[in-house]
This record gives sequence, structure tokens and C-alpha cells, in this order.
Amino acid sequence: MSATHIAAIDQGTTSSRCIVFDEHGAVVTVAQREHRQIFPRPGWVEHDAAEIWANVQTVLREALESAGLAAGDLAAIGITNQRETTVVWDRATGDPVHHAIVWQDTRTADQLARFDEALGDDTFRERTGLPLSPYFAGSKLAWLLDTVDGLRERAARGEVLFGTVDAYLIWRLTGRHVTDVTNASRTLLMDLRALSWSDEILAATGIPAAMLPEIRSSAEVYGRARADVAGGVVAGVPVASALGDQQAALFGQTCFSPGDAKCTYGTGSFLLLNTGDSPVTSGHGLLSTVGYRIGDQPAAYALEGAIAVTGSLVQWVRDNLGLISSAAEIEQLAATVDDNGGCYFVPAFAGLFAPHWRPDARGVIAGLTGYVTKGHLARAVLEATGWQTREVVDAMNADSGVPLTELRVDGGMTANGLLMQFLADALDVPVVRPAVTETTCLGAAYAAGLAVGYWKDTDTLRAHWREDARWTPATGREADYAQWKKAVARTLDWA
Ligand code: G3P
Repeated sequence: MSATHIAAIDQGTTSSRCIVFDEHGAVVTVAQREHRQIFPRPGWVEHDAAEIWANVQTVLREALESAGLAAGDLAAIGITNQRETTVVWDRATGDPVHHAIVWQDTRTADQLARFDEALGDDTFRERTGLPLSPYFAGSKLAWLLDTVDGLRERAARGEVLFGTVDAYLIWRLTGRHVTDVTNASRTLLMDLRALSWSDEILAATGIPAAMLPEIRSSAEVYGRARADVAGGVVAGVPVASALGDQQAALFGQTCFSPGDAKCTYGTGSFLLLNTGDSPVTSGHGLLSTVGYRIGDQPAAYALEGAIAVTGSLVQWVRDNLGLISSAAEIEQLAATVDDNGGCYFVPAFAGLFAPHWRPDARGVIAGLTGYVTKGHLARAVLEATGWQTREVVDAMNADSGVPLTELRVDGGMTANGLLMQFLADALDVPVVRPAVTETTCLGAAYAAGLAVGYWKDTDTLRAHWREDARWTPATGREADYAQWKKAVARTLDWA
């Protein structure tokens, strides 16, 4: 009997999911488990990679059971993951040596100062496409090597291994120590053009090469799932793709041509523009990154506008202010008023990412008067997502020289029609949502399916894409945007 389905694992910031897809790219079943968010100090965010691995096995088992599928029915497993989050584990046991340090964590100012002194911010940008920021994995790994007793010596002897979450999962699933180009491009350690670890950067940062995974493409068979994984439900299935979650969404939205762009609205939001087979250096605060690489084909590069806080602001309004009892309620509350009542909310909770790159910025609500109600605040919260997207689109237009004409969107917040209309107005371009909004998992499934010949080529995948909803610009917002920029300036001078 030939295999009929593909499974994708999405190991995200707040949960791990497994989605099974059929040959049309339609969702057959979904299983999900949340994991703990560990906040040891202000600005520090950790995960327990052992808990994550247990959850991944659980969702694999649950997804296959609920679809009534066995290992033989799966053509391949694809992996997508929260990027930059840093894991170091014991080669002999697989046990993490420390909690994983999460992408939002800002503890590594000392390590970054050292990197800057050794090579300088410009050299890092030129070699890796990234600015020196605590966001990326390199300084997190350096912190672990500096802090965990004896770790540097064990790393040099090859007893402990480093990986972003993709590498940890592939190692657990197959026993192979590999990562993919998209995840490696978020470490500050990979040469963006050569697609290999940079000897110059490893020497400057003191990171032992012996602990790094081999860098492979995003779509190829890395190994087969071991018999002892998830109670044997996936034994022998090829593990055939890995992409950072934002790159996977680019792939799932079938943005295969230069000029194609998507923005995914989750905890944070990430706008990626396919720039073709060479990296574009940003002069406006965007990241140059790898979009994907299929087998031995040339890599596709992307420009990225990374926004740290969008959906997590709505959660903060729910959990820390209690203005709403579910995230979806923000839309009803915002609809009780016609505008923002003059207030602007800049959620610089983890500093500001693109295009500012200011880890020291702190959030503000500007323009408050006695007139402002919780409805106005709810609007300002949603508008913050629109304006932050506008800032990265402006940067992207300036970098690429070709103005964006339409934006493909996905992710949980795209269910919010009021936000989507505001976004179209703020950007002054149509905003388009596809029928399958599980684009992150879909992208990992597509890449795995291509690797094993389940799908023939990218044209076949493109033919799956269907438009579900479209919002066209209705109201000009330029005066509001000027006010927003004034509010952003306050977050910077607060520092
Ligand atoms: O770069 C961080 C990003 O990969 C996190 O994505 O969806 O897990 O919040 P998400």
C-alpha cells in the first residue's frame, strides 16, 4: 500500500502541533499541546526542551490516531519551528543541559558587546544578514557556554550538542545532528552566501565547531524516525523537511517567485519577501535571511520585517489588564467605537525589532485624555499591529525599490476582520487571506512532500492555493500614521 498522507510538526513559541495533510494540501487532523513559559527574571524567557519533546511525541500519536493512520500511511514528516530558540543537550542521553533560551529573551548584552568588540556590527551584518541583537541564537549559545559549569570544555570534546529547535527534534527523531539553512540563518553564525558556518565568526565568538549541527537544505531526507519515538507510531517514516516557522509560512503561501510576500500574524508578526537567488542587503532595518532551499537547488533568499509583539499584546490586554476574557473579544470591544479616540499603543515590551532594532525601547500608550474608553484602547491595540506592519512595508519598499502591491496574510489574528480592514487602509494595498490558514504546517508538509516525490513540483503546490477573503483599502490613514510615529519616538527616548 502506498503512503497517502504527510504529517507536519509545528513546534511554536506557546505550543506544539501536529497536522496531517492529504494530497490536495487539505487539513485532515490537528493535535496540539501547550508548554510552560518560564520567566526567571524580567527580560528572560525559557522553555524546557524535554517537555517540548514529550509534547511533540504526544501530538504525533494523537494526530495519527484521530486520523486513523499508521506509519505506513505517511509518506514523510516535515518539521517547522519557533526560530532562534537555543537548545544544548547531552549527546549520550539527549537531555538538555539547561532550559532552552527563547527568541524573546534579552539577557545577552554582555556577549553581544564582546561580539561587537571582536568583529563589529557591520561585519556581522555583512556576513550573516543580521544585526547584533539578543534575538538571534549566537549570543544565547555564548551565554550558555559562559554560564553553565564545564560546558565549554564538554562542547570542545563533542559531548554536548547545540541546535535550534528543529535540530533538537531531528536529533530526537532520527539520531542525526543536522539543521536546515533557514534555521541556521538565524544564528548569527552562518555565512549567508556560502550557507556554511563562518570560521571567522566562530573564532571571534569562541563557539566550538564540534557542537554545531551539519547545515542541510530545507527539503531532503535527513533520516528515518526511530522505532522508539512516540510509541512507534511513526517508525521508519522519512523526516524530510525543516524550515523556521516564518519561512515555512512563506513556502505554504507558495511565495516561490521573487516579489512574492506574506505576513504571518501570531505572537509576533513576520513579513517575508522572496528576493530570489541572492541576498538583498537591507539599508532600512530589515533582515536578510534564507527563505528556503529545496534539495541541491539554489537557495531562495528573503528580506524579513520581524515584529516582536502583535498577538501577544492582545493576550496581555486579556491576562494583565482583564479588559477582555478571550482574545477574540478584542474585535467586539474595538467595534464599540468609531476610532482610537486619539490614543496610540506602541508595545515595545521586548524592545523594538524591525526596523528600529532597539532592545532598550519600552512600551507607551500616547495621547490619553479623559475621553478615552476601553473601546478606544482596544482599537489602539489592533492598530498597533497595522502600524508596525506599515513600518516594515515602508522599509521593504525602500530596500527593494518595487512597491508591494498586495499582501498575503495568515495566522490567528487574520480571523479579525476589523484588523484586516485597518491593515489594508494602513498599507494602502489589498490584503488577501488564503483558504488554508495553517500555512506554517502546510509549508513544512509541502517541503517534505517535494523531498520524497509525494508532490511533483512547486507548480503543483501553487495550484492548491485558493483565495478565501480580500480586504481593499477604503480610508486614507496618513495623518494617523504621523501620530503613530510620534508615539514610537517616545518609546525610544524613554530608553
Ligand atoms: O522568530 C520567532 C518566530 O519564529 C516565532 O514564531 O509563531 O512561534 O511565535 P511563533
